[in-house]
Amino acid sequence: MLLATSALLLMLSGGARAAEPPPRPSEAARSADAGRGETLYAANCTACHGALADGRGPAAVALTPRPTDFTRAASWKGRSDADMVALVRAGRPGTSMTAFPHLSEAEAADIVAWLRTRVTTPPGAP
Ligand code: HEC
Repeated sequence: MLLATSALLLMLSGGARAAEPPPRPSEAARSADAGRGETLYAANCTACHGALADGRGPAAVALTPRPTDFTRAASWKGRSDADMVALVRAGRPGTSMTAFPHLSEAEAADIVAWLRTRVTTPPGAP
């Protein structure tokens, strides 16, 4: 899958720019694997953010602030994938969003790629 994606990207870019090192965040985003991200999410994040990524995990009712509902486009407003990846790995002090430093940048990018597939509300919807 990763190889196929890389080969496709190489084809699309004509191979001409293959020698240039791409900037790190976009490299992580381009090679992100949402399928792998789903598995990592299920293992690490569902207790709070819920199996559907809607912020309704079993622990959510006890938490203030509530876990983010990733199905809402508003939750993503103004956030790049790189922002989200950094936040997952560093956590958010003062909230129950703990740091996940054991997840590599690539693994966090995979999770963020899967979370993006969960958005169901159009931008601007309540
Ligand atoms: C113990 C509960 C808990 C777990 C486990 C947890 N989170 Fe969170 N997470 C939260 C809470 C609560 C917030 C909301 C913090 C806030 O509103 O400032 C949050 C916020 C976030 C945000 C920021 C969203 C935003 O809009 O700023 C991201 C991204 C995120 N979580 C991803 C993850 C991922 C990925 C995992 C698994 C690797 C995970 N979280 C595991 C509780 C949790």
